[in-house]
Amino acid sequence: MERKKIAIEYIEISSIDELTTSDAYLVAKAREVANNAWAPYSKFLVGAAVELTNGKVITGNNQENAAYPSGLCAERVALFAANANYPNSPVKTIAVTAFNKNGQTKTPAKPCGSCRQAILESELRFEHPIRLILDGAEQIHIVEGIKNLLPLSFGKDDL
Ligand code: THU
Repeated sequence: MERKKIAIEYIEISSIDELTTSDAYLVAKAREVANNAWAPYSKFLVGAAVELTNGKVITGNNQENAAYPSGLCAERVALFAANANYPNSPVKTIAVTAFNKNGQTKTPAKPCGSCRQAILESELRFEHPIRLILDGAEQIHIVEGIKNLLPLSFGKDDL
């Protein structure tokens, strides 16, 4: 028997001011688009902004439904729109921001398991790692590649 460990890694900063201009722009877009979320049930508004290697920025927000499972998270709304419209352009970075009834969440927005899996698929499809900028009012986490959020993942090579 062998006990194995997997290390994950992320960078923590405390303000959008510490980001590069293009990353700060992406976070600003995620914050802005969260206002357009359709989230009457959870009242948890999430915005996501995807930057492609061709320079395009595609945004999305969570879209809820009275039949709860029919809704979709902000990350997948943005990612699927990006991949649908620019099928040949790898995704470079995704910024995510969330607001609850008290305003922006203090801790960084965290993609759910299904969104992590969809982000992995996009990485594998384009053979290009995706950087995540998880935005919170008091901390921002920068994650270099989905392997840091989804270790021991299941992808095309496991079929
Ligand atoms: N949600 C997202 O859009 N992204 C996340 O990373 C976590 C959760 C949405 C789904 C649902 O509309 C609401 O937030 C509450 O879970």
